[in-house]
Amino acid sequence: MINSEKEELQEILDNIKTELSQFKKERSELIPILQMIQETFQYVPPEALTLVASYVGISPAEVYGVATFYNQFRFHPPGKHPVKVCLGTACHVKGGDIILENFERKLEIAEGETTADKEFSIERVACVGCCALAPVALLGETVHGNMAPSKVEGLILRIELEKDIARREKEKQNQDA
Ligand code: FES
Repeated sequence: MINSEKEELQEILDNIKTELSQFKKERSELIPILQMIQETFQYVPPEALTLVASYVGISPAEVYGVATFYNQFRFHPPGKHPVKVCLGTACHVKGGDIILENFERKLEIAEGETTADKEFSIERVACVGCCALAPVALLGETVHGNMAPSKVEGLILRIELEKDIARREKEKQNQDA
């Protein structure tokens, strides 16, 4: 972990410590606390589990067990371009899991993880309300319907191209300045 990442993490942990005071020091507060952390920081840093454990008076292993039992918690910060693959019933029936697998293979990360350059992350989500377009995936806020394995590479490529164009434009502006 590089220094800026360590500092960022420390800041998050300090914030969590402050936020914890609004919860009772009880085991029943565990899920609401984890939800608060995820909503505030978009993920639950594994380092926060020890903090939470000592706050509610149970072991870190138990907190980890509860947090991993529920699919809603992620332990990596989301990428700049979060990929969400719908695995609601309609999407599942139409091969949503194959779409998920294709994103995992293309980005070389598993669901719940973030690429090393922090550009992409993958997560599975429940029905996003566009069942007529099943199977559905979201890239950022954009819904992509009627997904097919062959579309996965194109979507990733498009983002990489846009990034490349933005980088070149920035370089050009810097040269002109
Ligand atoms: S099940 Fe995927 S959009 Fe409804």
